[in-house]
Amino acid sequence: MTDLSTRYLGLSLPNPLVVSASPLSQDVEHIREMAGVGAAAVVLPSLFEEQLTAKHEGSTPGSSPEMEGAPVTATPLPNLPSYNLGPEGYLEHIRKAKAAVAIPIIASLNATSPGSWVRYAREIEAAGADALELNIYNVPTSPEVTGSTLEQMYCDLVSLIKANVHIPVAVKLSPYFTSLPNLAWRLDQAGANGLVLFNRFYQPDINIYERAITPTLELSTSQELRLRLHWLATLFGHLRADLAATGGVHDVYDVVKALLAGARVVMMTSALMQHGIAYLDSVRHDLGRWLQSNGWKSVREIQGQLSRRAVADPAVFERVNYMQVVTSYKPDSHGTRGSR
Ligand SMILES: Cc1cc2nc3c(=O)[nH]c(=O)nc-3n(C[C@H](O)[C@H](O)[C@H](O)COP(=O)(O)O)c2cc1C
Repeated sequence: MTDLSTRYLGLSLPNPLVVSASPLSQDVEHIREMAGVGAAAVVLPSLFEEQLTAKHEGSTPGSSPEMEGAPVTATPLPNLPSYNLGPEGYLEHIRKAKAAVAIPIIASLNATSPGSWVRYAREIEAAGADALELNIYNVPTSPEVTGSTLEQMYCDLVSLIKANVHIPVAVKLSPYFTSLPNLAWRLDQAGANGLVLFNRFYQPDINIYERAITPTLELSTSQELRLRLHWLATLFGHLRADLAATGGVHDVYDVVKALLAGARVVMMTSALMQHGIAYLDSVRHDLGRWLQSNGWKSVREIQGQLSRRAVADPAVFERVNYMQVVTSYKPDSHGTRGSR
């Protein structure tokens, strides 16, 4: 019998398939269904820092100094309580989810900076959440804010949250840092128990006729996993924090790739939105079958097998890999199509 179990954030999980934060887990019935089809844990949709502070009152999120003078329509905050039930409703949702299922429930806070609002994390803990995922979404717009200032804010935020709760804390990051290994290491030092790679950076589109910015959300494809694989493989073995993959996990092959690169767990949202929650069950069975037919006895055996830990000089490896890739593309005689 193949052993699918893994550990994540100090939690013993029967398999590595976790449902990531989305409106799917806003409904307790859905969470029950997720547990029923074998989800190892569920992350709830994020509660936003702005819901715990009054700091956005009177401001116009969506406008920025770069756009000043342009006819940008002020963007009011969306109806957040209908998304995540609001601060009180969120705590009640945690309590109901915990009463409904035995699998770990991971709460999620979407934040940009440290503040007194982090005390709410204690209430999340008191409501029974097994862990907290801190979804730091801070897209810089001011030319005066340096990368190191921003990164320090991330680390301070993690230290502050850790000082407020005893439950494990994971940090969901974007990939856009000058030196992700350094930031990952500093977050690790600040006490992060897990890093979730990566937050998707939702780029809005522009409606050229209405001269308006239109928010767009497209579900992912497996293509997005590549970036995650790169960084999982780079970070694996260098941190105490567990690594989770989110973004582009659609089938068993994606799951296996992420595990080989170094993920302790893989998270899914788009695939479940496309195929339904029960799809997770088929991926779980496929994982057992794949491991067995390839001669592996457990998930743990393959975790990090293809990470860079085994590479003597990862920086040289990166350079050589780049040279190999760019020289492998052979244009045809017209210079149009390539073959390998
Ligand atoms: C409709 C929708 C809502 C989402 N809401 C959240 C959220 O509240 N908090 C969060 O951290 N991620 C949120 N995500 C991101 C997902 O958790 C996940 O990281 C992302 O979709 C990439 O994974 P996937 O390729 O499996 O979809 C949302 C994604 C979708 C599609």
